[in-house]
This record gives sequence, structure tokens and C-alpha cells, in this order.
Amino acid sequence: MQAFNFYLPTKIIFGSGKLEQVGIEAISLGKRALIVTGKRSASAFGIIDRVTTYLEREGVEVVVFDKIEPNPRTTTVDDAGELARKNKCDMVIGLGGGSPMDAAKAIAVAAVEGKPIWDYISHGQEIVKPIKKALPIIAIPTLAATGSEADAGGVITNWETHEKAVIGSPILFPKVSIIDPELTTTVPEGYTIDGGVDIITHVIEGLFTGADNTPLQDRFSFSVIKTVMDNLPKVIDNQNDVEARANLSWASAVALSGMINSGRGGAYPIHALEHSLSGHYDISHGRGLALLLPAIMEYSYKSRPAKYAFLAEELFDIHRDGQTDEELAVKAISKMKDFLKSVNRLLTMKDVGIGDDSKFETMADDALRIYGVANEYLDNPRKLYKKDILALFSMIAD
Ligand code: NZQ
Ligand code: ZN
Repeated sequence: MQAFNFYLPTKIIFGSGKLEQVGIEAISLGKRALIVTGKRSASAFGIIDRVTTYLEREGVEVVVFDKIEPNPRTTTVDDAGELARKNKCDMVIGLGGGSPMDAAKAIAVAAVEGKPIWDYISHGQEIVKPIKKALPIIAIPTLAATGSEADAGGVITNWETHEKAVIGSPILFPKVSIIDPELTTTVPEGYTIDGGVDIITHVIEGLFTGADNTPLQDRFSFSVIKTVMDNLPKVIDNQNDVEARANLSWASAVALSGMINSGRGGAYPIHALEHSLSGHYDISHGRGLALLLPAIMEYSYKSRPAKYAFLAEELFDIHRDGQTDEELAVKAISKMKDFLKSVNRLLTMKDVGIGDDSKFETMADDALRIYGVANEYLDNPRKLYKKDILALFSMIAD
């Protein structure tokens, strides 16, 4: 196992109805809050009104910024940062899916450091401005997916250059996250499934790319994956199944909290490639991951068959019966595809609206420049050089 520091300073308040605690939590952080949210759902389902009531009840004034787009953009963050500064807000509340929560983190920086936020985001430039200060953040997830509620990062897109990259600093951990699974019952089926695939990918990437001899981390990953695989069909059947929604919400929070990957480390090649896809085509993050996951498994398993065999035996209950690691690996991949198919997420580029290969080269270059090792390859059991990325894209083109 690798040496590690585990640091999770976020207070997590979990449970149906817990939204009403937001005022009590907020008043200990300041007097005026900027609520950062998406364009429709939080307003349509009355969540902004509820949050505002709970805040005002405790004497916290409210400013609302409800213009965060999915795959949030630098320009939107800069605008909201200015609004926070003008209104002298002393905290930012990210209310929504990963996009508003991530944007809230970047806005918390922009509000005190100024713009452009892109200077603080590592996207392959020579000098990344250090993040020294940020307003305190409260996260309120309304969609089980990204884990932004329990990590210190956010993903922001520069729509002029189509680069999508990560802003991160320990000071961006939310001070408090209120995870109220009831808020997720209105998420449409498509985004619910995308969120489930995102959670799975957050823990499976570390399994594929992290250290050997990490059975605790690997089994913890299988537990998260199985929880998603068991509960997604339940919420597809009944979108108001709050118990199943709660299981997905906790899986989301745990996945990227550091609890699972500590000691195992690892890389995120699937995420690196997905960020190129959504940076250029604005697709749903989880849908892009679903597209890439089985292809990367097929492309990589021969470089690390033992981990894949462990996946087959422990997650999918496949008995060894004299089979080699490679034979078991092939069965694990097939099981993963079966699952994706069962939730309608065994996809091609065409299915998500990427109709031709005209941007393959640019997307590969972007992924290598922003996330690559020495701009040359993506860390993966089978290293992904540009030619490998292009081969992978071709595998899923149609
Ligand atoms: O925009 P609104 O109107 O709020 O609607 C959203 C949006 O259309 C809707 N939605 C959210 N909660 C809802 C709801 N609709 C009905 N009822 C609710 N309760 O869902 C749609 C998608 O929302 P979005 O926030 O974009 O989705 P997601 O949570 O998947 O976030 C994706 C973003 O997070 C980044 C992704 O790259 C992408 O930019 N990620 C952030 C990470 C992190 N912070 O650690 C890690 C991830 O790997 C990921 O990269
Ligand atoms: Zn993700």
C-alpha cells in the first residue's frame, strides 16, 4: 500500500428533510449567502424558496445566482464571482448537481481573488495562479453523481477554447454538505443513470490504475459499485424510492472523498478523455463515461489481468474453476457491458451526438496537454499515447 494523508474536513449532514438545517449551519459562516444553482430544477421544484426561507429564518440574507449551465463555464463563474463581490457575500452555497456545486467552489475563489478564474485552473499553462483564499462553501447536492459534496475539486469549461479542467485546493472542501436524498427524487431517469455511471467510474478507475495489494480499497470499490448496480434499477422503476435514492446519494459522497483511493492512488484516464468529449460537445458527463468505460476495459485488461480477475470474482461472483486471469477479465468486461446495456448506457459516439471524427485529434491533444504525464500519455495500465486514444475513439465511434 502507498503512504497517504487522509483529510476530509467537510461536515456531512445526511438524511431526508435535513435541508432545513441549512440556516443554522450558514449563520455560523456569515450573514449573507450567494446561492449558486442551475437554470431550472431548483426553482421549478421549490428548492430555492425553501433554502431561502431556512436561511432568512436564521437571519442570513440571500442573493441568488441561477444561471449555472451543465458543464459550467469560466465566463459564468467570473460573472457570479463579481456578483458575490458586489454584494459582499460571505459564503457561497452550491445547490444542484455537480455543475452548481463545482461552480460554487470556483465562484468562492473568484469572489475574493478576482477574475479570470481560468488563471487558477490548471490546464497545461506554465503558471497556475495559487488559490490562497476562498469564501466558505456549503454544498447541497440534488443529484447523486459527482461527489463534489465531499471533495475539494471542481471542473470548469473554457468554452472559447473548449478545454475542460480542474480547479482544486484543500480550501475548497465544503465546510458543510447537506445531503438530503429527497431532493434527488425529481431527477429525470437519464441524469439519474448518468450519475450512477459516474459514481461507478470514480471508484473503478482507481482499481484499474492504482497500486497492487489494496484489498480493502478494492472491496470498498466493489461495495460502492454493487450499491449503484442494485439501486439504479429501483429508482428507474420508482423515481420516488427515497431509500434507494439515499443509497445512491451516500455512494456518490463516499466515492471521491478520499476514503476509497487512499493508499491505492491511481489515475483518471477515463475522466481525462470524457472531459475532452464534454469540453467539445457539451454532453452529459456520466454519458461520456459510459461510452468510454467498456472500451478502456477492453483496451487495457491484458496489461493488468489480475485486477480484472479480482473484479470478476469479487464483484460479479464468477468462480475461477481453473480459468486464467485473462479469461476471468473477459467475463468481467462482459458483465459490465451487460449492466450498462440494462440501463440503456451501452453507447457509441453517434448515440451522444458526436457524428464524425473531425475533432478526435484535438480532443486527444487536449486530454494529453491537460491531464497527460509530460504531455505524452495518460497514465493507465496500458499507457494511452495519442495513437492509443485515437484507436479508442475509433472503437466507440459507431
Ligand atoms: O441545471 P438544472 O436546472 O439544475 O438541471 C440539472 C441539469 O439539467 C438537472 N438536475 C439536477 N438536480 C436535479 C435536476 N433535475 C431535476 N431534479 C433535480 N433534483 O440535472 C442536469 C445535470 O446536472 P449537472 O449538475 O450538470 O450534473 P452532474 O451532477 O452530473 O455534474 C456534472 C459536472 O460535474 C463535473 C462534470 O465534469 C460536469 O461538469 N464533475 C465534477 C467532479 C467533482 N467535483 O469532483 C468529478 C466528476 O468526475 C465530474 O467531472
Ligand atoms: Zn466523474
